[in-house]
Amino acid sequence: MSASQLRRATAFAPSNIALTKYWGKRDAELNLPLAASISVTLAELGSLTIVQPEPDLPEDVMLVDDRPLDDAGMVKVRRVMHAIRALAGSSVHAGLRSVNTIPPARGLASSASAFAALVVAAADAYGLALDTPTLSRLARTGSGSASRSVIGGFALWHRGTAPDGSDSFAEQLHSPDHWPLRILVAKVSDERKKVSSTTGMRMSATGSPLFTAWIDQCNRDVVDCQQALAARDMRKLAEVVEGNALAMHATMLATRPPLVYWQPATLGVIHAVRTLRGEGAECCFTIDAGSSVVVLVAAQDARPVADALAGIAGIEEIIQTSVGLGARLLDTAPRAP
Ligand code: DP6
Repeated sequence: MSASQLRRATAFAPSNIALTKYWGKRDAELNLPLAASISVTLAELGSLTIVQPEPDLPEDVMLVDDRPLDDAGMVKVRRVMHAIRALAGSSVHAGLRSVNTIPPARGLASSASAFAALVVAAADAYGLALDTPTLSRLARTGSGSASRSVIGGFALWHRGTAPDGSDSFAEQLHSPDHWPLRILVAKVSDERKKVSSTTGMRMSATGSPLFTAWIDQCNRDVVDCQQALAARDMRKLAEVVEGNALAMHATMLATRPPLVYWQPATLGVIHAVRTLRGEGAECCFTIDAGSSVVVLVAAQDARPVADALAGIAGIEEIIQTSVGLGARLLDTAPRAP
């Protein structure tokens, strides 16, 4: 493709919350997981990314929320952009801008939505019409969980066995309207700089005595979670999703040196959700590598559950959203003839 046929493209991608987690890699370069994982895609919380190919740029540059991306992030971005340019047969670098609608560093991974939006925008900018598995694979090489943000509704990220990662991508299990749950993010105030997922999972793999048992548990939970989702069975979903998140945090806590992501309010929400469910509310919680808690709740119970969680000491705010669509192209400049 000639430089004149490149164009500016903008994409939005949502964040996703894992129902059964990815915490362990069999290949750190390609972000290949040791187990499959399942997620739900969030509606309006995510990243808007603009890709502008510029023939004069000596290398890719990226602003995230108006600040230059750090070196570790840039290494991942350049890896993804290099793969896209190779597919397009182009050597033109790009100016990249990403704006997040997610609270940063609060346990909601913004890298997932950022890389999913990046691949969708960049593919269009470089004139590539890629199928969804290819977009998911490319997003995965930026950040593992980004493979799932390409997909809407409920997604399964295949573990795969191929060394080159060709069979490790995410696919839709159900569209958003299969189970129109509400999703509440109970934001816990936490001023500490947290250990990133990339670093934390490497530490757990080498330093947690529970790590092998954790991966075995993931393999079982992925099967049970699919059954719970297919049947829209909240009791079963709660058992699997909460059990999986707690097993991941047990693995993190047992890591030496320990990975303690929780704050007192994290535990407050855990207890509150269990009590509310005991009283009849259809809800369950999950927690990523952070202190905030994500609660899935049936629409009719969303209001009372949100009110109860908002009253817990240390909860900054309750963000409410629903199950959403996957990454999509929003706007493009005209391509030169
Ligand atoms: C706890 O996808 O952020 O959110 O592949 O190293 O970029 P990298 O890690 P990342 O890890 C997400 C970890 C998690 C669980 C999950 O989303 O499955």
